[in-house]
Amino acid sequence: MPVLVLNGPNLGRLGSREPEVYGSTSYDDLVVSCRAWGADLGLEVEVRQTDSEADLVAWLHEAADSGIAVVLNPAAFTHYSYALRDACVQLSAPLIEVHLSNPMAREEFRHTSVISGVASGTIAGFGADSYRLALQALAGTGLS
Ligand code: DQA
Repeated sequence: MPVLVLNGPNLGRLGSREPEVYGSTSYDDLVVSCRAWGADLGLEVEVRQTDSEADLVAWLHEAADSGIAVVLNPAAFTHYSYALRDACVQLSAPLIEVHLSNPMAREEFRHTSVISGVASGTIAGFGADSYRLALQALAGTGLS
C-alpha cells in the first residue's frame, strides 16, 4: 500500500534546527526510519520535503488523483495555509497530520492548525516517533 510522507518548510534542517525542540534525528535519518517502519507495516513509503507551499499543494493533488494516503507535517504552514487545507480536502484516502513537537504546548500562534479539521487524525509531540505512530495508525486501521 503506497503512502506519501510529506514535510514542509525547514524540516530538511532537522538535526541541526533547534534540537532542544525537534530532537537530534536528522532529516535523512527520519527518511530512513519512515521507510523501515513502513516496510515492517507492509506500506510502501515515499518521503518528500520542500520549503515551497506550491510543491506541497502539487504533491497533495498527486495523492488526491491517485487515491494515496498521506502523512503530512505541514510545519509552519499548519498555522495559516488555507491553500494547503483546500488541497487536503481533495484527498479521498486518509490524511494523518503529524508534528515532532506539541504545538499546543508552545507559542500561541502554533495553537491554531488549519489542517486538523480536515485530517483523519493528528499525532504530535513524540519527535520522530510521531511519524511511526501515524504509519501504524494507517496500517492498523486498514485506512491506507
Ligand atoms: C512542527 C511545528 C510547527 O509549529 C513548526 O512551524 C514546524 C515544525 C513540528 O513538527 O513540531 O516547523 O510542525
